[in-house]
Amino acid sequence: MQLWHARIDTTALGYPYLRVLPSRTDDGGSDVGKDLEKLAARVRKVRADTMQRHVLVCTDDDCSKGAKRAKQMRKRINGQRLREQVTVTKVGCLDICAKGPICVVYPEGAWYHSVDKATAERIVDEHLRDGELVEDAVFLVNELR
Ligand code: FES
Repeated sequence: MQLWHARIDTTALGYPYLRVLPSRTDDGGSDVGKDLEKLAARVRKVRADTMQRHVLVCTDDDCSKGAKRAKQMRKRINGQRLREQVTVTKVGCLDICAKGPICVVYPEGAWYHSVDKATAERIVDEHLRDGELVEDAVFLVNELR
């Protein structure tokens, strides 16, 4: 199987920037057509086309309360009407494995430790809504370029 890159005109579906890496079978066929609507629906569900910040929350062993924190953050984000701008994604180990739950917010690259309920609420209110880091819970800032 080969991979080939294609820019797909999805304006009819309302996603002018959707670009996909469809798989092409050895006989030259492709799954683009049948997968396109599925991809567009998933893009919309996670707001990948409108998000301005992405929060990754570790839910692995040393961050066992991460899933609960992600749920609380999503609820508060919805309450703050930030749903179009912020996506929270539960992830596996972020390789910090100390003082969890750990989460990181992009594009700032702000890494938070010990994210309890109160800290999760502050991250939503102060960082995601107001644009100010929650300094006492941040242990690293590394903005990606
Ligand atoms: S288990 Fe959360 S960072 Fe490793």
